[in-house]
Amino acid sequence: MILGIESSCDDTSASVFENDLMLSNCIAGQEIHRMYGGVVPELASRAHQQNIVPVVNAALQKAGITAADLNAVAFTRGPGLIGSLLVGSSFAKGLSLALNIPLIEVNHMQAHVMAHFIRQKSGRNSQPTFPFICLTVSGGHTQIVRVTDYLNMEVLGETLDDAAGEAFDKSAKIIGLPYPGGPLIDKLARDGHPSAFHFPHPKVPGLNFSFSGLKTAVLYFMNEQLKKDPEFTVKNRADICASIQKTIVDILLSKLIEASEQTGIKEIALAGGVSANSGLRDSLRKEAAKRGWNAHIPIPEFCTDNAAMIALTGYYKMERGQFSTQQVSSSARYPINPL
Ligand code: KG4
Ligand code: ZN
Repeated sequence: MILGIESSCDDTSASVFENDLMLSNCIAGQEIHRMYGGVVPELASRAHQQNIVPVVNAALQKAGITAADLNAVAFTRGPGLIGSLLVGSSFAKGLSLALNIPLIEVNHMQAHVMAHFIRQKSGRNSQPTFPFICLTVSGGHTQIVRVTDYLNMEVLGETLDDAAGEAFDKSAKIIGLPYPGGPLIDKLARDGHPSAFHFPHPKVPGLNFSFSGLKTAVLYFMNEQLKKDPEFTVKNRADICASIQKTIVDILLSKLIEASEQTGIKEIALAGGVSANSGLRDSLRKEAAKRGWNAHIPIPEFCTDNAAMIALTGYYKMERGQFSTQQVSSSARYPINPL
Protein backbone atom coordinates (compact mmCIF):
# COMPACT_ATOMS: atom_id res chain seq x y z
CA MET A 1 0.00 0.00 0.00
CA ILE A 2 1.54 3.28 -1.14
CA LEU A 3 0.37 6.79 -0.32
CA GLY A 4 1.22 9.41 -2.96
CA ILE A 5 1.30 13.13 -2.18
CA GLU A 6 1.33 15.90 -4.79
CA SER A 7 1.72 19.60 -3.88
CA SER A 8 3.93 21.14 -6.58
CA CYS A 9 1.63 23.98 -7.64
CA ASP A 10 -1.94 24.82 -6.62
CA ASP A 11 -3.54 21.38 -6.22
CA THR A 12 -3.21 19.39 -3.00
CA SER A 13 -3.69 15.73 -3.83
CA ALA A 14 -3.35 12.36 -2.08
CA SER A 15 -3.79 8.91 -3.56
CA VAL A 16 -3.59 5.33 -2.33
CA PHE A 17 -2.30 2.49 -4.51
CA GLU A 18 -2.13 -1.24 -3.92
CA ASN A 19 0.89 -2.02 -6.12
CA ASP A 20 -0.04 -0.45 -9.49
CA LEU A 21 -3.79 -0.46 -8.75
CA MET A 22 -5.38 2.85 -7.81
CA LEU A 23 -7.68 2.67 -4.78
CA SER A 24 -8.28 6.41 -4.38
CA ASN A 25 -7.24 9.78 -5.81
CA CYS A 26 -8.44 12.90 -3.95
CA ILE A 27 -7.69 16.44 -5.12
CA ALA A 28 -8.33 19.79 -3.42
CA GLY A 29 -8.03 22.73 -5.81
CA GLN A 30 -7.40 26.30 -4.65
CA GLU A 31 -10.01 28.90 -5.62
CA ILE A 32 -8.04 31.72 -3.96
CA HIS A 33 -5.82 32.28 -7.05
CA ARG A 34 -8.72 33.10 -9.35
CA MET A 35 -9.06 36.68 -8.04
CA TYR A 36 -5.36 37.33 -8.72
CA GLY A 37 -5.38 36.00 -12.28
CA GLY A 38 -2.64 33.44 -11.56
CA VAL A 39 -1.09 31.29 -8.84
CA VAL A 40 0.25 33.35 -5.90
CA PRO A 41 3.03 31.14 -4.44
CA GLU A 42 2.68 32.21 -0.81
CA LEU A 43 -1.10 31.71 -0.85
CA ALA A 44 -0.60 28.31 -2.49
CA SER A 45 1.70 27.15 0.34
CA ARG A 46 -0.78 28.27 2.99
CA ALA A 47 -3.68 26.54 1.25
CA HIS A 48 -1.62 23.31 0.96
CA GLN A 49 -1.06 23.44 4.72
CA GLN A 50 -4.80 23.72 5.31
CA ASN A 51 -5.69 21.01 2.80
CA ILE A 52 -3.08 18.33 3.26
CA VAL A 53 -4.44 16.56 6.36
CA PRO A 54 -8.09 16.43 5.18
CA VAL A 55 -7.03 15.32 1.68
CA VAL A 56 -4.80 12.51 2.99
CA ASN A 57 -7.58 11.39 5.36
CA ALA A 58 -10.09 11.39 2.50
CA ALA A 59 -7.73 9.31 0.32
CA LEU A 60 -7.19 6.73 3.09
CA GLN A 61 -10.90 6.57 3.83
CA LYS A 62 -11.87 6.17 0.18
CA ALA A 63 -9.31 3.37 -0.17
CA GLY A 64 -10.82 1.66 2.89
CA ILE A 65 -7.54 1.58 4.84
CA THR A 66 -5.92 3.38 7.78
CA ALA A 67 -2.48 4.97 7.97
CA ALA A 68 -1.23 1.87 9.79
CA ASP A 69 -1.81 -0.19 6.60
CA LEU A 70 0.62 1.93 4.55
CA ASN A 71 3.92 0.38 3.42
CA ALA A 72 5.50 3.45 1.80
CA VAL A 73 4.93 7.16 1.16
CA ALA A 74 5.83 8.83 -2.14
CA PHE A 75 5.89 12.60 -2.63
CA THR A 76 6.69 15.16 -5.32
CA ARG A 77 10.24 16.41 -4.80
CA GLY A 78 10.08 18.86 -7.74
CA PRO A 79 9.99 20.71 -10.05
CA GLY A 80 7.46 23.24 -8.80
CA LEU A 81 6.91 26.13 -6.39
CA ILE A 82 9.34 25.70 -3.52
CA GLY A 83 6.89 26.68 -0.74
CA SER A 84 4.22 24.33 -2.11
CA LEU A 85 6.69 21.47 -2.51
CA LEU A 86 7.90 21.93 1.08
CA VAL A 87 4.42 21.30 2.48
CA GLY A 88 4.13 17.92 0.72
CA SER A 89 7.70 16.84 1.42
CA SER A 90 7.55 17.82 5.12
CA PHE A 91 4.29 15.93 5.51
CA ALA A 92 5.67 12.85 3.73
CA LYS A 93 8.86 12.89 5.81
CA GLY A 94 6.86 13.21 9.03
CA LEU A 95 4.57 10.34 8.05
CA SER A 96 7.54 8.17 7.06
CA LEU A 97 9.14 8.75 10.48
CA ALA A 98 5.94 8.29 12.45
CA LEU A 99 4.94 5.05 10.71
CA ASN A 100 8.50 3.84 10.17
CA ILE A 101 7.87 3.25 6.45
CA PRO A 102 10.11 4.06 3.45
CA LEU A 103 10.07 7.48 1.81
CA ILE A 104 10.18 7.81 -1.99
CA GLU A 105 10.88 11.07 -3.88
CA VAL A 106 9.18 11.47 -7.26
CA ASN A 107 9.92 13.81 -10.17
CA HIS A 108 6.67 15.57 -11.14
CA MET A 109 7.46 15.56 -14.88
CA GLN A 110 8.32 11.87 -14.85
CA ALA A 111 5.07 11.23 -12.97
CA HIS A 112 3.01 13.05 -15.65
CA VAL A 113 4.39 10.56 -18.20
CA MET A 114 3.76 7.64 -15.84
CA ALA A 115 0.06 8.60 -15.64
CA HIS A 116 -0.37 6.36 -18.71
CA PHE A 117 0.27 3.28 -16.60
CA ILE A 118 -2.31 3.91 -13.85
CA ARG A 119 -4.51 0.86 -13.41
CA GLN A 120 -8.02 1.24 -12.03
CA LYS A 121 -10.52 -1.41 -10.91
CA SER A 122 -12.68 -0.41 -13.89
CA GLY A 123 -9.83 -1.22 -16.29
CA ARG A 124 -6.93 0.53 -17.90
CA ASN A 125 -6.52 2.95 -20.77
CA SER A 126 -4.50 1.98 -23.81
CA GLN A 127 -0.87 1.92 -22.67
CA PRO A 128 2.07 3.03 -24.75
CA THR A 129 4.75 0.43 -25.44
CA PHE A 130 8.46 1.27 -25.12
CA PRO A 131 10.08 3.20 -26.64
CA PHE A 132 7.56 6.02 -26.96
CA ILE A 133 7.59 9.78 -27.38
CA CYS A 134 5.64 11.81 -24.83
CA LEU A 135 4.66 15.45 -25.18
CA THR A 136 4.19 16.77 -21.63
CA VAL A 137 2.33 20.05 -21.67
CA SER A 138 1.30 21.82 -18.48
CA GLY A 139 1.10 25.23 -16.85
CA GLY A 140 4.76 25.10 -15.90
CA HIS A 141 6.36 22.86 -18.53
CA THR A 142 6.47 21.89 -22.17
CA GLN A 143 8.72 18.95 -22.95
CA ILE A 144 9.18 16.24 -25.53
CA VAL A 145 10.69 13.14 -23.94
CA ARG A 146 11.80 9.78 -25.27
CA VAL A 147 10.68 7.08 -22.83
CA THR A 148 12.61 3.81 -22.98
CA ASP A 149 11.39 2.27 -19.72
CA TYR A 150 9.08 3.18 -16.81
CA LEU A 151 11.69 5.34 -15.12
CA ASN A 152 14.00 5.95 -18.05
CA MET A 153 13.30 9.19 -19.86
CA GLU A 154 15.36 11.59 -21.94
CA VAL A 155 14.35 15.17 -22.73
CA LEU A 156 14.58 15.77 -26.52
CA GLY A 157 13.25 19.31 -26.45
CA GLU A 158 11.57 21.82 -24.17
CA THR A 159 10.32 25.36 -24.02
CA LEU A 160 12.87 28.15 -23.89
CA ASP A 161 10.43 30.51 -22.15
CA ASP A 162 6.68 30.16 -21.41
CA ALA A 163 4.95 26.78 -21.15
CA ALA A 164 2.02 25.87 -23.43
CA GLY A 165 -0.39 26.18 -20.48
CA GLU A 166 0.96 29.66 -19.76
CA ALA A 167 0.38 30.59 -23.41
CA PHE A 168 -3.27 29.56 -22.98
CA ASP A 169 -3.65 31.28 -19.59
CA LYS A 170 -1.87 34.53 -20.53
CA SER A 171 -3.75 34.85 -23.84
CA ALA A 172 -6.99 34.20 -21.96
CA LYS A 173 -6.18 36.96 -19.49
CA ILE A 174 -5.60 39.42 -22.36
CA ILE A 175 -9.09 38.72 -23.71
CA GLY A 176 -10.62 39.14 -20.25
CA LEU A 177 -11.10 35.50 -19.19
CA PRO A 178 -10.50 34.47 -15.56
CA TYR A 179 -7.65 32.20 -14.41
CA PRO A 180 -7.03 29.46 -15.39
CA GLY A 181 -8.04 30.44 -18.91
CA GLY A 182 -6.94 27.25 -20.71
CA PRO A 183 -10.13 25.26 -20.11
CA LEU A 184 -12.26 28.34 -20.97
CA ILE A 185 -10.46 28.92 -24.29
CA ASP A 186 -11.09 25.23 -25.03
CA LYS A 187 -14.81 25.61 -24.29
CA LEU A 188 -15.33 28.86 -26.20
CA ALA A 189 -13.21 27.68 -29.15
CA ARG A 190 -15.80 25.00 -29.93
CA ASP A 191 -18.10 27.69 -31.39
CA GLY A 192 -15.38 29.57 -33.26
CA HIS A 193 -13.46 29.44 -36.56
CA PRO A 194 -9.83 28.38 -36.03
CA SER A 195 -8.65 30.29 -39.10
CA ALA A 196 -10.54 33.52 -38.34
CA PHE A 197 -7.36 35.25 -37.15
CA HIS A 198 -3.72 34.45 -37.78
CA PHE A 199 -1.00 34.50 -35.13
CA PRO A 200 2.65 33.91 -36.07
CA HIS A 201 4.51 30.67 -35.33
CA PRO A 202 7.94 31.09 -33.70
CA LYS A 203 11.00 29.79 -35.51
CA VAL A 204 12.84 27.71 -32.91
CA PRO A 205 15.51 25.24 -34.00
CA GLY A 206 15.36 21.55 -33.09
CA LEU A 207 12.67 20.20 -30.83
CA ASN A 208 12.53 23.22 -28.53
CA PHE A 209 9.55 25.55 -28.18
CA SER A 210 8.93 29.23 -27.53
CA PHE A 211 5.56 30.63 -26.51
CA SER A 212 6.38 34.06 -25.11
CA GLY A 213 5.95 35.72 -28.55
CA LEU A 214 2.38 34.48 -28.83
CA LYS A 215 1.07 36.43 -25.84
CA THR A 216 2.72 39.59 -27.22
CA ALA A 217 1.16 38.94 -30.64
CA VAL A 218 -2.27 38.44 -29.03
CA LEU A 219 -1.82 41.62 -26.95
CA TYR A 220 -0.86 43.78 -29.98
CA PHE A 221 -3.62 42.27 -32.09
CA MET A 222 -6.25 42.92 -29.43
CA ASN A 223 -5.08 46.51 -28.77
CA GLU A 224 -5.23 47.22 -32.50
CA GLN A 225 -8.70 45.74 -32.95
CA LEU A 226 -10.13 47.37 -29.81
CA LYS A 227 -9.00 50.79 -31.09
CA LYS A 228 -11.18 50.23 -34.18
CA ASP A 229 -14.08 48.59 -32.36
CA PRO A 230 -14.39 48.61 -28.53
CA GLU A 231 -16.86 45.71 -28.82
CA PHE A 232 -14.37 43.53 -30.73
CA THR A 233 -13.77 41.01 -27.90
CA VAL A 234 -17.45 40.48 -27.16
CA LYS A 235 -18.35 40.07 -30.83
CA ASN A 236 -15.46 37.73 -31.70
CA ARG A 237 -14.64 35.83 -28.50
CA ALA A 238 -15.21 32.33 -29.93
CA ASP A 239 -13.19 33.07 -33.09
CA ILE A 240 -10.32 34.58 -31.08
CA CYS A 241 -10.25 31.54 -28.76
CA ALA A 242 -10.38 29.08 -31.67
CA SER A 243 -7.54 30.91 -33.45
CA ILE A 244 -5.32 31.05 -30.34
CA GLN A 245 -5.98 27.37 -29.66
CA LYS A 246 -5.19 26.38 -33.24
CA THR A 247 -1.90 28.30 -33.12
CA ILE A 248 -0.77 26.58 -29.89
CA VAL A 249 -1.91 23.14 -31.08
CA ASP A 250 -0.19 23.55 -34.48
CA ILE A 251 3.09 24.57 -32.82
CA LEU A 252 2.94 21.55 -30.48
CA LEU A 253 2.04 19.09 -33.23
CA SER A 254 4.69 20.31 -35.67
CA LYS A 255 7.41 19.50 -33.09
CA LEU A 256 5.81 16.16 -32.25
CA ILE A 257 5.89 15.25 -35.96
CA GLU A 258 9.55 16.31 -36.12
CA ALA A 259 10.34 14.19 -33.01
CA SER A 260 8.65 11.14 -34.52
CA GLU A 261 10.48 11.60 -37.83
CA GLN A 262 13.86 12.09 -36.13
CA THR A 263 13.56 9.05 -33.86
CA GLY A 264 11.45 6.80 -36.09
CA ILE A 265 9.12 6.23 -33.12
CA LYS A 266 5.39 6.05 -33.92
CA GLU A 267 4.21 5.35 -30.39
CA ILE A 268 3.08 8.83 -29.31
CA ALA A 269 1.66 9.97 -25.97
CA LEU A 270 0.36 13.18 -24.41
CA ALA A 271 0.61 14.15 -20.74
CA GLY A 272 0.07 17.17 -18.47
CA GLY A 273 -2.80 19.59 -17.91
CA VAL A 274 -2.91 20.94 -21.47
CA SER A 275 -3.48 17.43 -22.86
CA ALA A 276 -7.04 17.85 -21.55
CA ASN A 277 -7.48 20.33 -24.44
CA SER A 278 -10.01 19.00 -26.94
CA GLY A 279 -8.33 20.71 -29.92
CA LEU A 280 -4.99 19.06 -29.09
CA ARG A 281 -6.63 15.67 -28.49
CA ASP A 282 -8.52 15.84 -31.81
CA SER A 283 -5.50 17.00 -33.79
CA LEU A 284 -3.34 14.26 -32.30
CA ARG A 285 -5.93 11.62 -33.24
CA LYS A 286 -6.15 12.99 -36.82
CA GLU A 287 -2.37 13.13 -37.20
CA ALA A 288 -2.10 9.60 -35.77
CA ALA A 289 -4.55 8.26 -38.34
CA LYS A 290 -2.65 10.01 -41.14
CA ARG A 291 0.84 8.92 -40.04
CA GLY A 292 0.16 5.44 -38.64
CA TRP A 293 0.94 6.50 -35.06
CA ASN A 294 -0.43 4.76 -31.98
CA ALA A 295 -1.70 7.72 -29.96
CA HIS A 296 -2.23 7.55 -26.20
CA ILE A 297 -3.98 10.19 -24.12
CA PRO A 298 -4.77 9.73 -20.41
CA ILE A 299 -8.28 10.47 -19.11
CA PRO A 300 -8.56 14.16 -18.01
CA GLU A 301 -8.36 13.24 -14.27
CA PHE A 302 -4.83 11.96 -14.87
CA CYS A 303 -3.78 14.78 -17.24
CA THR A 304 -3.97 17.60 -14.68
CA ASP A 305 -1.98 17.48 -11.44
CA ASN A 306 -2.90 14.47 -9.30
CA ALA A 307 -1.29 12.25 -6.67
CA ALA A 308 -2.22 9.00 -8.46
CA MET A 309 0.67 9.54 -10.89
CA ILE A 310 2.98 10.18 -7.89
CA ALA A 311 1.89 7.02 -6.05
CA LEU A 312 2.27 4.90 -9.22
CA THR A 313 5.76 6.26 -9.93
CA GLY A 314 6.50 5.55 -6.25
CA TYR A 315 5.44 1.94 -6.80
CA TYR A 316 7.87 1.49 -9.72
CA LYS A 317 10.69 3.13 -7.72
CA MET A 318 9.89 0.89 -4.74
CA GLU A 319 10.12 -2.19 -6.98
CA ARG A 320 13.62 -1.08 -7.96
CA GLY A 321 14.62 -0.26 -4.37
CA GLN A 322 14.93 3.48 -5.08
CA PHE A 323 14.20 5.01 -1.68
CA SER A 324 15.02 8.44 -0.23
CA THR A 325 16.44 9.47 3.13
CA GLN A 326 15.14 12.10 5.54
CA GLN A 327 17.86 14.41 4.16
CA VAL A 328 16.12 14.75 0.76
CA SER A 329 15.15 18.36 0.02
CA SER A 330 12.50 19.84 -2.28
CA SER A 331 13.85 21.11 -5.62
CA ALA A 332 12.11 23.91 -7.53
CA ARG A 333 14.23 22.90 -10.53
CA TYR A 334 14.60 19.16 -10.76
CA PRO A 335 15.66 17.62 -14.08
CA ILE A 336 13.86 14.49 -15.28
CA ASN A 337 17.12 12.57 -15.60
CA PRO A 338 19.50 14.01 -12.99
CA LEU A 339 23.16 12.97 -13.31
O1 KG4 B 1 -0.55 19.81 -15.25
P1 KG4 B 1 -1.32 20.95 -14.69
O2 KG4 B 1 -2.59 20.64 -13.95
O3 KG4 B 1 -0.46 21.78 -13.69
C1 KG4 B 1 0.87 22.08 -13.89
O4 KG4 B 1 1.75 21.24 -13.53
O5 KG4 B 1 1.12 23.17 -14.45
O6 KG4 B 1 -1.61 21.97 -15.88
C2 KG4 B 1 -2.34 23.15 -15.68
C3 KG4 B 1 -2.41 23.89 -17.01
C4 KG4 B 1 -3.01 25.29 -16.90
O7 KG4 B 1 -2.20 26.19 -17.64
C5 KG4 B 1 -4.38 25.14 -17.55
O8 KG4 B 1 -4.86 26.31 -18.16
C6 KG4 B 1 -4.09 24.08 -18.59
O9 KG4 B 1 -3.22 23.17 -17.94
N1 KG4 B 1 -5.31 23.39 -19.04
C7 KG4 B 1 -5.82 23.52 -20.28
C8 KG4 B 1 -7.01 22.73 -20.31
N2 KG4 B 1 -7.16 22.14 -19.08
C9 KG4 B 1 -6.11 22.56 -18.32
N3 KG4 B 1 -5.39 24.22 -21.34
C10 KG4 B 1 -6.13 24.15 -22.46
N4 KG4 B 1 -7.28 23.43 -22.56
C11 KG4 B 1 -7.74 22.70 -21.53
N5 KG4 B 1 -8.87 21.98 -21.65
ZN1 ZN C 1 1.80 19.15 -13.57
